[in-house]
Amino acid sequence: MSRIAYVNGRYLPHALAGVHVEDRGFQFADGVYEVIAVQGGRFVDEGHHLNRLDRSLTEIRMAWPMSRRSMRLVMREVIRRNRIFRRGIIYIQVTRGAAPRNFAFPASVESSLVMTARTLPPLDPAAMREGVSVIIVPDRRWPRRDIKSVSLLPNVLAKQQAVDHKAFEAWQVDDDGVITEGTSSNAWIVTAEGELVTRRADTAILSGVTRRMIMAICAEHGVTFAEKGFTVDQAKSAREAFLTSTTALVTPVVHIDGDSIGGGEIGPITERLLAFYLDHMLKPQDQYL
Ligand SMILES: Cc1ncc(COP(=O)(O)O)c(C=O)c1O
Repeated sequence: MSRIAYVNGRYLPHALAGVHVEDRGFQFADGVYEVIAVQGGRFVDEGHHLNRLDRSLTEIRMAWPMSRRSMRLVMREVIRRNRIFRRGIIYIQVTRGAAPRNFAFPASVESSLVMTARTLPPLDPAAMREGVSVIIVPDRRWPRRDIKSVSLLPNVLAKQQAVDHKAFEAWQVDDDGVITEGTSSNAWIVTAEGELVTRRADTAILSGVTRRMIMAICAEHGVTFAEKGFTVDQAKSAREAFLTSTTALVTPVVHIDGDSIGGGEIGPITERLLAFYLDHMLKPQDQYL
């Protein structure tokens, strides 16, 4: 069965789905996006993702392409047409529309809205517990990383560098030697002193929805944490490390630039947070945020 994409009001087979050659997303990366997980046929933390989309749109001075209510209906239709009954993801992209190429905003143009979705294999917690390797790379992105912009070239190059080194992710480091985040995930460690830390969500990183949910889970279960930066040395001497994202959930990091972390195995705090997060994903969620 062919996958179906939503493109500006139409549901099309992928082979026929495309945007205008002068779409500003294609020409200038003038747009923003969201990725939302589907679990058990339901969107995970949908309200938080749509709130972040709202914020991204506001920050780049773009209006919603349709009402939030209509957007939620289209999202459900995309999931239905792609037959995602259990686990999958939906990708939502909004750009400043198609107009003759000119850096300045077009006087009047309708924004473009594209959605695609795909099925993911069932969750495999045992495989997730095995952990992944990350490499350290300089952060070469613009200073507004809080906006979920489709301008992702530095992330693409850093991720490919990770793949070239047989690693799963690249942790990016700012000019002060402090780790910002991964190319598509947030970074956490349990320091050598036993403190759970993740960088504060200012303009230097994307405020991950998974990160926020982990912070809420910590608060609920009395796990103390601090929002503060950590250096590469602190990361390499950490007791535990992990990354969080919509698709990677809570993934232990067991090697950083080849140095093993926590003896190369998932640590107890990561293990607990992964279990709590899986519970969170699997429980029915408020869909009306
Ligand atoms: C740069 C960056 N940081 C963090 C994340 C994690 O965010 P979320 O947990 O909302 O998926 C992403 C997700 O794509 C990302 O691109």
